[in-house]
Amino acid sequence: MLDTQTIQIQKTTESRLSAVDFANLDFGAVFSDHMLVIDYANGEWQTPTIVPFADFKLSPANPALHYGQAIFEGLKAYKNEQSEISVFRPVANLDRLNISAERLCMPTLPEELFMQGLTELLRLDADWIPSAPGSALYIRPFMFGTGEFLGVRPATEYRFAIITCPVNAYYSAPLRVKVEETYVRAVEGGFGFAKAAGNYAGSLLPAKKAFEAGYHQLLWTDGKTHEYFEESGTMNLMFVINDTLLTPALSTSILAGITRDSILQLAKDQGITVEERKVSVGEVMEAIQQGTLQEAFGCGTAAVISHIVTIGYQGQDYELPPVNTRKYSPQLAQVLDDIRTGKAPDTHNWMVQI
Ligand code: PLP
Ligand code: COI
Repeated sequence: MLDTQTIQIQKTTESRLSAVDFANLDFGAVFSDHMLVIDYANGEWQTPTIVPFADFKLSPANPALHYGQAIFEGLKAYKNEQSEISVFRPVANLDRLNISAERLCMPTLPEELFMQGLTELLRLDADWIPSAPGSALYIRPFMFGTGEFLGVRPATEYRFAIITCPVNAYYSAPLRVKVEETYVRAVEGGFGFAKAAGNYAGSLLPAKKAFEAGYHQLLWTDGKTHEYFEESGTMNLMFVINDTLLTPALSTSILAGITRDSILQLAKDQGITVEERKVSVGEVMEAIQQGTLQEAFGCGTAAVISHIVTIGYQGQDYELPPVNTRKYSPQLAQVLDDIRTGKAPDTHNWMVQI
């Protein structure tokens, strides 16, 4: 374990905190005062630094800009009524960052380094963590190739950094989504399971088209047949049909969401029947028509639980049961929120105190 002396801290002399309107936060647009930066060179991670949030200086021949060696994570810190700070499942995010890193030929980050850097950063910017219901400090760790070369090969130098922003939930209203049968987010054997920047770049055009057609998001289907659901926007996808909580099984084209995993665990704790398997578009559309589909929702760190109220499929809109008739997802969202804000016992040891 590194001792805290090894983190070099340069505090800001001009905090921006007093200028922030916490009641009207635009997701990801307001950044807290400091950031953690750790560079990788000569085959090892260098001394971590915490510095005021500021621009990076990059070579125009930065390899991440040209070939996309860039990955990221998203997690949240919460402040409870006693003003104690805790982070939800940070090691799960680090594990996934390292899975993404391996897929993109990038170095992995040791747990001690990540946790120590994150802890110091959150302690320094503790006043930035909101406590209003539904709010949190969104934590964005990311890593990208640095250096100066245009050959297509893994970079030899990297930068890992963490920036943070106070946020409310990403989607404020229930969602209208569209089953996407032309574009795909990821394919089996690709890197959809990695939280890589390129996956998001490729999703922008289809999402823009869906938005222009009156939908908030897409329901991605599999790249080979478009017969099976994968995920939705920046969320994993869940359905309740005949009192069974159904979610697409993980694969190389689906991001293994930590919210997904947590909801499945909470549902199992409550004795709800859970199925992780291929979920076909056909069976969901049939369940809507037969009235056996009770709920549909997306789940993710930024989105939390976002109810789906309309599904557009092959030119027609299908309305789902109203949110106020749903018994599983609102309740699961509440339990998750209570654990995160210290109102319910953390039986799975998900919260890490800072
Ligand atoms: N799927 C995609 C594509 C995402 O971007 C996210 C958000 O992180 C998720 C699923 C949900 O993952 P998590 O619950 O870990 O935030
Ligand atoms: C997250 O939920 O952490 C995400 O990655 C969503 C983000 C791309 C807005």
